Amino acid sequence: MNTAKRQDAEQRRLWLDESQLRYHVDQFERPYRSTVHLGRFLAGLPLHGGEALDIACGAGSNIYYLSHVMPGFHWTGIDLAGDMLFPIAREKFADAGIDVTLVSGDLFELDRVLARQRFDLVISTQTLSWLPDHERALCQALRVTRGWLVVSSLFTELDVDTECLVYDHTIVPELPPYHMNVYSLNRMRSFCEGHGCHEFRSEPFDIDIDLPRPESGGLGSYTERLADGRRLQFTGPVHLPWRFIAARMGD
Ligand SMILES: C[S@@+](CC[C@H](N)C(=O)[O-])C[C@H]1O[C@@H](n2cnc3c(N)ncnc32)[C@H](O)[C@@H]1O
Repeated sequence: MNTAKRQDAEQRRLWLDESQLRYHVDQFERPYRSTVHLGRFLAGLPLHGGEALDIACGAGSNIYYLSHVMPGFHWTGIDLAGDMLFPIAREKFADAGIDVTLVSGDLFELDRVLARQRFDLVISTQTLSWLPDHERALCQALRVTRGWLVVSSLFTELDVDTECLVYDHTIVPELPPYHMNVYSLNRMRSFCEGHGCHEFRSEPFDIDIDLPRPESGGLGSYTERLADGRRLQFTGPVHLPWRFIAARMGD
């Protein structure tokens, strides 16, 4: 097996593992602060409803939250682990009376899987930095966007891209490593502009609550306070410089 194929198979094994379930399901009951902040960030964009897409939507908890705080969109969600996650999601959406389209599929084949549909709003949260080939993924995301593409991931204002592989030895049997890549904001902007984006916005996400270190000693977000009161977010030994970016395509 060549390196790319092995990496692809490893990533599938990681994301399709049942241990991922809890992370997704917990968010329905208690949205993460990043989801609440995402709602605020979206409220600052000139959005007027229509078709919306969440790429790598997990079990759809972002869609669930945004449908409540930002009505006027019909949502589609796509995720590789849809067969595992969507039975839970469908129940939650049916109970809330929310009409949503959920597609189990690969974001690297987005345009084909979604039959070349175009969307007024496309979001993708906490995923781009976790991918082995983010520019290929971004290309697909920009292609299906006719309005705004909004991404939350790890970005630096330095002109540096960092690829990082993280192994959690507390999970038994051990899973393949997570990517936790930090991308250069400038390069991201240039990449989007090179693919037809004509307005680019960006904003850091500073978490507004303290998160304790996980007792397991493994991965899991926690915060450390700076002298000025701001919080830095970490998982394991890795600092997480969260940002929202928004790229406007079309009119
Ligand atoms: C860190 S989780 C983030 C989930 C959700 N967006 C959130 O903010 O909670 C990354 C998600 O990406 C999905 N994923 C990873 N690779 C994918 C791929 N190639 N195609 C579609 N989904 C993928 C995983 O199944 C997982 O749900």
